[in-house]
Amino acid sequence: MSAGPRRVVLRVPGWPGHRPGQFAMLALDPESAHRDPLLARPMAVYRGDASALEFRFKVVGRGTRILGSLTTGSRLGVVGPLGNGFPSLPPASVLVGGGTGIASLYELAAHHSRVRVLLGGKTQEEVLGLEDFEALGVDLQVATEDGSRGHKGLVTDLLEPEPDRTVVACGPTPMMWAAAELCRKAGARCLVSLESPMACGFGICLGCAIPTGAGFRYVCTDGPVFDAEEIRWEELA
Ligand SMILES: Cc1cc2nc3c(=O)[nH]c(=O)nc-3n(C[C@H](O)[C@H](O)[C@H](O)COP(=O)(O)OP(=O)(O)OC[C@H]3O[C@@H](n4cnc5c(N)ncnc54)[C@H](O)[C@@H]3O)c2cc1C
Ligand code: FES
Repeated sequence: MSAGPRRVVLRVPGWPGHRPGQFAMLALDPESAHRDPLLARPMAVYRGDASALEFRFKVVGRGTRILGSLTTGSRLGVVGPLGNGFPSLPPASVLVGGGTGIASLYELAAHHSRVRVLLGGKTQEEVLGLEDFEALGVDLQVATEDGSRGHKGLVTDLLEPEPDRTVVACGPTPMMWAAAELCRKAGARCLVSLESPMACGFGICLGCAIPTGAGFRYVCTDGPVFDAEEIRWEELA
């Protein structure tokens, strides 16, 4: 099996529509009396409309392994759209995506043709959705850790925030923290979309709490998009 990102397309009758940055909880074994895995898994909507939703993901454990092995006609439970998604962005905003976090950014880039997009992955194969971002015609730069595409190094090496501009970051926590720090020093606004593990996805289990300057907040109902200044990064990392 390829180590690169996988994709699954689901027909979701009755899907009410969604905003960029919202997510769904996918129940992988909804028809069995002993659901296994018991808990649904959160997944950003990569792109979609009323007829079908596409998700992009990396296999990291049991749930994503099942998702990657589905065949045509398989049935899943889908709860969504969940979370608040992204606000509308001012012109000249910069989107920074790393690893599977890139999945949250594709529709945002598609809605804002004047954004600059920085994408990163360990290798070119792991830069999720690269061809789709290229097809959007946005200002795009890529960084790979092995140098197989674009800049050799981290995607945050490419980020030069400007005062009063907006940066949106989604990816591993150290990447988002680094982007937040660069923005803070430059006087730029930084929004981050967090991918904390979740059990319910809609405010019941309290398992997705994160530390902020205003106390604990919940990634599923208060986020997943937060102003980076709110987050106590040193406690989250
Ligand atoms: C709002 C949101 C959107 C997401 N969108 C995407 C997406 O578009 N594509 C994608 O590939 N993933 C996405 N994720 C992460 C995805 O939900 C997890 O990778 C998935 O739940 C793992 O399930 P599993 O059963 O395969 O792994 P598990 O068996 O549950 O875990 C395997 C390993 O991964 C770790 N892990 C599990 N979940 C997370 C997590 N959220 N963050 C960091 N480490 C984790 C575990 O600690 C463990 O080490 C998103 C998460 C959130 C909260
Ligand atoms: S995942 Fe249950 S409260 Fe957020």
